[in-house]
Formats: sequence, structure tokens, C-alpha cells
Amino acid sequence: MNILILGSGGRESAFAWKLAQSPKCDKLFIAPGNAGTGQYGTNINIGVNDFEGIKQAVLSNNIDLVLVGPEEPLVRGVHDFFLNDEQLKNIPVIGPQREGAQLEGSKDFSKQFMTRHHIPAAASQTFTADTLQEGLAYLPTIGLPIVLKADGLAAGKGVLICPTLAEAEQELKEMLTEAKFGAASSKVVIEKFLSGIELSVFVLTDGDNYKILPSAKDYKRIGEGDTGLNTGGMGSVSPVPFADAAFIKKVEDRIIIPTINGLKQEGIPYKGFIFIGLMNVGGDPYMIEYNCRMGDPETESVLPRIEADLVDLLLGVANGNLNQVDFAVSDKVAATVVCVAGGYPGEYLKNKAISGIENVRGSHVFQAGTTQSGEDILATGGRVLMVTALRDNMFDALQQATADASRIYYDGCYFRKDIGFDLI
Ligand code: AMP
Ligand code: GLY
Repeated sequence: MNILILGSGGRESAFAWKLAQSPKCDKLFIAPGNAGTGQYGTNINIGVNDFEGIKQAVLSNNIDLVLVGPEEPLVRGVHDFFLNDEQLKNIPVIGPQREGAQLEGSKDFSKQFMTRHHIPAAASQTFTADTLQEGLAYLPTIGLPIVLKADGLAAGKGVLICPTLAEAEQELKEMLTEAKFGAASSKVVIEKFLSGIELSVFVLTDGDNYKILPSAKDYKRIGEGDTGLNTGGMGSVSPVPFADAAFIKKVEDRIIIPTINGLKQEGIPYKGFIFIGLMNVGGDPYMIEYNCRMGDPETESVLPRIEADLVDLLLGVANGNLNQVDFAVSDKVAATVVCVAGGYPGEYLKNKAISGIENVRGSHVFQAGTTQSGEDILATGGRVLMVTALRDNMFDALQQATADASRIYYDGCYFRKDIGFDLI
């Protein structure tokens, strides 16, 4: 069968790498892809939100299945677009329809969903410009620091953790009355801060049946020792040592089952990945957020551990018989180190030629913000390359990925040398 992946990051590179290994995948296309995805399939120069362009590409390349990487096309309704089109409606899309994507697209929707289904999460309330005064009155009641979340998608920047009440008041006003995050902050969720260790658990569901994919931990801060500005993710490891079978059972019973049942009860169809962002608070899982897709750079550590054929899993989702698909996870440990552009996550250096990828021996390099220019691969995005090693134990995986990241060179290249070492 012919498969199209939408997206251009390290996550999509990892999906392409994994799908290309399946004997069931004939032709693989990636739109728009990056300089690295061409190793696994054919890049098509179409943006992920260009639904008409995607339609033409699907029809002209006889695509049998579409896998959506990022959230934006899902929240904008790419799956609904397929279902509403006579020529596309029978081509399965992996990724929820617009309504299910609201689990990520609206923090207010997702918090209300958690409340309705008794899913453990931090106490919160939602406010708008009209209820600013009530919001200001709510702030001092939930302790410090205070978490403010723009309701809508804000390119990963919409969550503020305010150490003081004064700062929270100022930020709340800017979000609600000065559109600090544009329309995304026309509603703001004010939330109690949860203290614990974060991790992510991923679920693949056909709306009825589900598979729990390996857990992973993401390192969001730019600096070593988890310091400095937030980024899209500087590295990941899978599995997470403290997420043992007993902890995952709690996640399944308290979060995954109520989520799948809740979607069904509310008549929200959902075929795709659910990213469950959790805080481990003293051994108990609490929801931080849902995402309607896989994580990046978590995918780069999760997929190498999945021994099943990803095409079989995706077909199980499409056909509603995911329960019948074999699923096995490797005991090995995967570690991913992200090489970013100099200056990232602020203004960063662009169009720097990359060398040394061929010197990487013990890891796999997933490309993200790269563009082919003649013979050269240029670093064009903030997160440039993800270096993933799979080994028998965490120490070896971390050491290998970190050593291999240092074999790559481009002007301004930076990566964290401490990814995962807090877990050993
Ligand atoms: P989100 O966009 O919801 O993932 O939030 C971004 C980050 O903010 C999360 O990954 C957490 O590190 C942090 N965060 C969000 N909500 C909370 C909370 N209630 N307590 C503590 N940290 C939080
Ligand atoms: N790594 C976090 C995310 O994909 O949102």
C-alpha cells in the first residue's frame, strides 16, 4: 500500500523510518518532509495545512492511508476534510477529527473533559475578558506558583508558570485583554501547580481498542540541569524507569480507560494517537495535558522500541480491529539527543552546512530542520537533528547518543550532554 505522512520534523522522520521497514509499505510519501526523509520515501512539497494540495497529492499518488504528524492540521479538521470529500472519504486518516483534536486544541475543553470523566488533574478554572475580575479573585486561592494556560494552540508557548501573584495578575490581564497569544488567549485556564516528575505515555486507539505504547520522558529546557528557556524538546528517553508496570496500571485504570470510554460516551470518534502528558506526584499520575498526536522528540525514542509492524498497527486503527494486531515492545532503552541551531529557542542561525552525519555509527540520525541544497544539507530549523541510540541499558544508550551527537558539526550546533542522566 502507499502511505502519506504529513509533517516535516524529527517525529515524521521517525515515522517514515519505521514505515519504510514494513513489507506492506510500497510507496511512502512525506509532505513536506525534510532533507532526511528522502532516504525513506519521496518528499512532496505541500504544506500540512494545504488541504486541497494534499487532496491532489493523495489522488495522483494513489495513497491508501494518511498519517498526520503535527496537531495543527488535525485541529483545523484535515480528517473531517477527507470524510466530507467524495473522492477521499474511504482513505483512512490516522489522527482524530476536529472534535477529538479539541483535546489538544482547547485546554478548556480538555480540562472539562477530564472533570466529566473523573480523570485526576490539577484544580483549575477558565476565564475570559468578561470574567477577568473573577479570574483575578481566583488567583490567590490556588497557591504559588500559578499556572496560566492560553486555551488555544500557541506554538508551545501558551503556558506560563508565574512564581508570584503579582506576575500572575499581570500576565492574566495581558493574555485576556491584550491578546498576548492572539486569539489563543481569549480564554485562559488558571491551574494549580503540580509538583513531581513529568513523563509522557502514548496510546494508539481505533476509538474502541487501544495499545499502550512505551512511555518516554522529554527534556524541555535549553540548558543542562533543566535550566533556561523552554524549547520544543532537547532530548528524550524511553522507557522511563519509574514508570514501572504498577505505575502504568494506574495510568491505564485512572486515565486511559476513562479517556477512551469518555470519548465513546460523548460520541467523539477518535482514530489516532493520544499523548498523555503526566506528572508523577508521589507515585500517582495526574494529567497535565492531552495532545492529539505523538510527541517530538519522544517519537524518536518510542518507535525504535516497538517491534510490531507499524503498518499493521495503523491498519488496525483504520479498520477498528486494533485488538487483533500483534504488539511487542523491546526491553532495550532508547535515548535521543537533539542538535539545535545556535541561538535557539530565540533568534537562531540558519542555512549552516551540516557535516559528519556519516561519522555516526552507533545511533540513527533523524533529521528535522534540514533542507537539501545541491550536495549540502543545511540546518534551517531550530531543532535540526535528533540522534537516537538503542542499547541494552540506559547508560549505554545515553552515552552512545551523546557521543554520536558530538560527531556532527555545523556552525552554532548545540546539544545537551546531560539528557537522561538524572534517571540513572
Ligand atoms: P503544556 O503546554 O500543557 O504541556 O504545558 C507546558 C509545560 O508546563 C508542561 O510540560 C509542564 O512542564 C508545565 N505545566 C503545565 N501544567 C502544569 C501544572 N499544573 N503544574 C506544573 N507544571 C505544569
Ligand atoms: N515533546 C513535547 C511535544 O511534542 O509536545
